[in-house]
Amino acid sequence: MFRNILAASLLTLAACDGSEPAQPAPAPEPVKEEPAPAAEAAPAEAEVAEAAPAEAAPAEAEAAPAEANARTGEQVYAQVCIACHQANGEGLPGAFPSLVGSDWVTGDYTRPTKIVIHGLQGEIEVKGTTYNSIMTPQGSILSDAEIANVLTHVRSSWGNAADAVTTEQVTAIRTANADRTAPWTVAELNAQ
Ligand code: HEC
Repeated sequence: MFRNILAASLLTLAACDGSEPAQPAPAPEPVKEEPAPAAEAAPAEAEVAEAAPAEAAPAEAEAAPAEANARTGEQVYAQVCIACHQANGEGLPGAFPSLVGSDWVTGDYTRPTKIVIHGLQGEIEVKGTTYNSIMTPQGSILSDAEIANVLTHVRSSWGNAADAVTTEQVTAIRTANADRTAPWTVAELNAQ
């Protein structure tokens, strides 16, 4: 009797053991649900991918061979310029001039290029408002490719619609002013 009971229990145990491996089968089902959120996120990424080439492709394409790891114009703006000129590019009244609709940004590319490399001091009129401050030079913390990228970015953002600036153009201006240390003045920029 006992033996039979034991044997029956063992059989039951064995049956339980045997049935367990069969249970994990449903597990893969929840996995199927996961790809859904990823698929939802995809369109957002696609939008970013579409927007990027339109703005920065020309400068980055040229910059790529020499400086493949240069930050994009958007990145440089967000890490450097934004502190003063603000996220919307409009600066702060009385302190930092606007880059939106500013002739200093969208006009002759040599002027904003010089301003970014060596800075700017003294009076400057931007969109009818006169500022008399100082912009610190950014040339030592930014590569020529990064300056080209950020200038291309500000010249084509917030409704600005000026040509891209290339790394070669920035390099030429940096080289021509290699001996310079002081920030530019408006008088100097206008004289050239
Ligand atoms: C520390 C603050 C500061 C930072 C950072 C800064 N700027 Fe400026 N920027 C100024 C100030 C102040 C002026 C006006 C200087 C004057 O009054 O002579 C100015 C002027 C300018 C001008 C000419 C005036 C205008 O509004 O069009 C341009 C172009 C410009 N900055 C671009 C940039 C870009 C691009 C960057 C990032 C690479 C940058 N600035 C980073 C403070 C800053």
